[in-house]
Amino acid sequence: MCGIFSYSQFFVEKDRAFIIKTLLNGLKRLEYRGYDSAGIAIDGDSPLETLIYKEVGKVAEVEALVNAAVAAGELDLTKTFKTHAAMAQTRWATHGQPLTRNAHPQWSEPNREFVVVQNGIATNYKELRTVLESKGCVFESDTDTECIAKLAKYLYDQSNGTITFAELGKALVQQLEGASALVLKSTHFPNELVATRRGSPLLVGIKTDQKLLVDFVDVEFGDAHSGRRTSSSPTRAFVADINGGEPQPIEYFIASDASAMIDHTKRVLYLEDDDIVHIANGELAIHRLRRDDGVSAQRSIMTLEMELAQVMKGQFQHYMQKEIFEQPESVVNTMRGRINFATHTVTLGGLRAYLATIRRARRIVFVACGTSYHSALATRALFEELTEIPVSVELASDFLDRTCPVFRDDVCVFISQSGETADTILALRACIDRGALCLGVTNTASSSISRMTHCGVHINAGPEIGVASTKAYTSQYIALVLMALQLGDDRVSTAARRAEIMDGLRDMPQQIADVLATDTGLHTLAKDVLFGHASLLIMGRGYQNATVLEAALKIKEVSYMHSEGILAGELKHGPLALIDENMPVILFMTKDALYPKVQSAYEQITARKGCPILLANEGDTNAEKMPGHKIWVPRTVDCLQGLLNVLPMQLLSYHLAVLAGVDVDCPRNLAKSVTVE
Ligand code: F6R
Repeated sequence: MCGIFSYSQFFVEKDRAFIIKTLLNGLKRLEYRGYDSAGIAIDGDSPLETLIYKEVGKVAEVEALVNAAVAAGELDLTKTFKTHAAMAQTRWATHGQPLTRNAHPQWSEPNREFVVVQNGIATNYKELRTVLESKGCVFESDTDTECIAKLAKYLYDQSNGTITFAELGKALVQQLEGASALVLKSTHFPNELVATRRGSPLLVGIKTDQKLLVDFVDVEFGDAHSGRRTSSSPTRAFVADINGGEPQPIEYFIASDASAMIDHTKRVLYLEDDDIVHIANGELAIHRLRRDDGVSAQRSIMTLEMELAQVMKGQFQHYMQKEIFEQPESVVNTMRGRINFATHTVTLGGLRAYLATIRRARRIVFVACGTSYHSALATRALFEELTEIPVSVELASDFLDRTCPVFRDDVCVFISQSGETADTILALRACIDRGALCLGVTNTASSSISRMTHCGVHINAGPEIGVASTKAYTSQYIALVLMALQLGDDRVSTAARRAEIMDGLRDMPQQIADVLATDTGLHTLAKDVLFGHASLLIMGRGYQNATVLEAALKIKEVSYMHSEGILAGELKHGPLALIDENMPVILFMTKDALYPKVQSAYEQITARKGCPILLANEGDTNAEKMPGHKIWVPRTVDCLQGLLNVLPMQLLSYHLAVLAGVDVDCPRNLAKSVTVE
């Protein structure tokens, strides 16, 4: 949705140029989360003055604004600070259009005493705004975030300036509803920051040359209003080793995503919902309102395993392109250590303790959105075949809208690349409340879904930065196939089938590389045949139902060309009316049990003067004889064929986007992590 980033430094001299560059680089890493507007807040010549630079558009616009201020002599980049607390945000507009006044940071008047950046929504902002307006506050933006800044000032004024910043953070959190993460800065609390999260991701990075005294932080529990401590554990459990009593240099980064901080530090703390972080005087404390809310009293300081190179584009033009070409490797990472190809066994450590319960399930319910939903569709038939348990596949939003019945003996599987998608999280909460066993399939180990589910599978695809999901899809697909294989391994009758699928998986990385090697031809097809058309129909059936839906989603989201995935069995029930000699069609005709039926679809299309582009298996002599353009892919086991068939479609959508001049990694109106309903 939005990305927030904050940088604070203590006992280490940095100039303003460094601070601004750190903020802007952090924001650029988070730009995939939203790019409608961006902004930064830094100190003026003293921390009693806050300077804000914000602009509609991408982070580069803020950079230009800063450069203009420097050129006009209004901003001195050489000014140095020994301690300083700054923050920034890149926005995906939800409440309030993408206008400068709606960009973050938002502040309280007069004098920007409280400044806020937020990711998410304070859903009760209308009520808050009404109350604050009745107290004389005048609002300048249409955002919910402005309410938070003004509410902070109101609470501060109410205390007659006696409240501490941490207490203020607690009081604020109690007033806010909805899923959000925020960072707050104030001229009343120079060089301090408060940050908190509920339902939106937030982590803190710690950089110091000193040895840390602890590898965890004790949480402090206390009453919001009195600030009274109810814990005997030290508030400031986390400090760097002190050298001869001298305070040691330390820097903190707060971000929506680890990718924004790995070029600074790998030591991070993942926050829990309703944690209130207070950073002051080089020290970090975590507060919670109550002890009895079932949340652990310690936050571990973890080491990020992500490498900087993983989030850089390398020789590729775009992240999407890089991530498509990473698939021969990313699928290996999904399978690594989980399949024994010699004995034909699969072991998913995260599920081991729950296998018996899952096998006894009345029903398996997959819940996901977008591409992740398609990965569930792609593997549903295999689950049904190998487990003989009824499977339903649900779009999270629709599942919620229907308040779908869920039973204690259901097993619900939540698939999400980011692990932070709001609809999926809400559906997960509903299933937890109804007592179902909940599994997570995510690409983000410390994400909300990973932590909230009882057990799960990490897909290990590596960070996916391009907004359009590519390598996460193939890794989700494989992770689900592995799940079905493991669940089915109590049936001798399916042993040969499972072995065949595992052999198919063994050959998959090379076959993926072979398809990617046909990229030049796909570029030509995109340029000479498809580009310029208003619409593209993509058809298939059986195992390819999911692939055509995923292919059409990819085409429309990155190239803005209208595209529709049509289940070929439905052709005669309506979509056939769209066919004529001008309508581009791609028909998936790879070999499986439904091949003859797909051929009938081909006949139906050509009888209406259509000339489909066939996506067929190499060596299919029947397809070779058919007129028109062809996309060739190697053949694999029927239930895995979608892994190969989706690849040319990812490449075609990428090329169509580049030809259309679209900002491929950041298509309009979209964001990578959709943390609002
Ligand atoms: C499409 C795409 C989206 C996501 C959807 C769910 O390319 O990326 O459709 O799949 O927003 O996101 P996650 O998987 O993070 O829950």
